[in-house]
Amino acid sequence: MMKVYEFKTGITDLDGLRRSERPEPKPGPSDVLVRIRATSLNYRDHAIVVGTYRTKIERDTIPLSDGAGEVLAVGASVTRFKPGDRVAASFFQVWIDGSPPKQRGALGAPLDGMLAEYVALHEEGWVAIPKSLSFEDAATLPCAGATAWNGLMRSGTPIKPGDTVLCLGTGGVAMLALQFARAAGARVIVTSSSDAKIERVRGLGASDGVNYRTHPDWEKEVLKLTGGRGVDCVIENGGIGTLARSFQCIGYSGKIALIGVLAGPQGNANPHDLMFKNASLHGIGVGPRSSLEQLIQAVDVNQIKPVIDKVFSFDQAADAFRHQSSGNFIGKIVITI
Ligand SMILES: NC(=O)c1ccc[n+]([C@@H]2O[C@H](COP(=O)([O-])OP(=O)(O)OC[C@H]3O[C@@H](n4cnc5c(N)ncnc54)[C@H](OP(=O)(O)O)[C@@H]3O)[C@@H](O)[C@H]2O)c1
Repeated sequence: MMKVYEFKTGITDLDGLRRSERPEPKPGPSDVLVRIRATSLNYRDHAIVVGTYRTKIERDTIPLSDGAGEVLAVGASVTRFKPGDRVAASFFQVWIDGSPPKQRGALGAPLDGMLAEYVALHEEGWVAIPKSLSFEDAATLPCAGATAWNGLMRSGTPIKPGDTVLCLGTGGVAMLALQFARAAGARVIVTSSSDAKIERVRGLGASDGVNYRTHPDWEKEVLKLTGGRGVDCVIENGGIGTLARSFQCIGYSGKIALIGVLAGPQGNANPHDLMFKNASLHGIGVGPRSSLEQLIQAVDVNQIKPVIDKVFSFDQAADAFRHQSSGNFIGKIVITI
């Protein structure tokens, strides 16, 4: 038997996160069995715990989409990996490249996730990780990394040196977007609820930060910071609740990557101004495996160290979820196994 955690059916609070045991998975002919070493949390995991995520937990499910580890065994017809290889799981298990297929299983709900000692998935569901990345680093990338990468590099026109990117908030997607954008030669402005967090993100390469609590009209500050020109890309983690302000501070030919739901479902966003600015709005749904492969190369070549706020042990998994709920973190929260 192996150690796992489970989100219990119908979970609405942390009491629904339980430690459990399951039989060790046996790899089928096309499967790769991995000893998971590190996992990371995403906002959706918090949303699942509090029962607000759009996919409800209808059977006891192993949490967390993101994890990395080493290959223990492979099925007879596997060609992509061998025992000893270091790998991370792709968020969607059957979306390799191109347009999203209608059916694409996401790890951590509805599919079982990574908060387990061992995971067996089809060989196409894993990507190789380079030596430069620790298991903890690699575990931060599948969901937040692919989302940030798609927003910056694969939706519309890729960002380029000299562009200005606006990242909303200081969570996992925002901090990886900051790091990818800086590596691409862009200037980055960050919004945050906290001056202390803004100080931290300046140290990570943000040129400026705007506190959206003390400046509720933060889009005006962003326009001031760009000499009235606006930004070239918004990593829109707030969603419908912040979109109207993003429409105000997007620049000519800029793009808004619509990613999050942090600012709630209510808003008065009207895209009319995009027309006159020749600007665009792009829906982002994490991304295919090819995005994860691309960004891992970028992380390796540019020696990017993902921002990990805190690492918890397997026994402390509930504390990791509590830390996430507190909002008192920047970047990623990791659980080692
Ligand atoms: N579409 C997709 O494919 C996709 C993929 C991944 C994530 N997402 C979504 O993207 C968002 C970010 O995910 P994540 O995993 O990076 O989250 P996270 O790591 O949990 O980060 C949350 C942070 O966002 C900031 N925040 C909270 N409320 C905000 C608001 N009203 N406006 C701006 N920032 C706010 C806070 O930072 P401060 O205290 O600094 O403000 C908070 O710490 C979530 O809504 C998530 O559901 C979507």
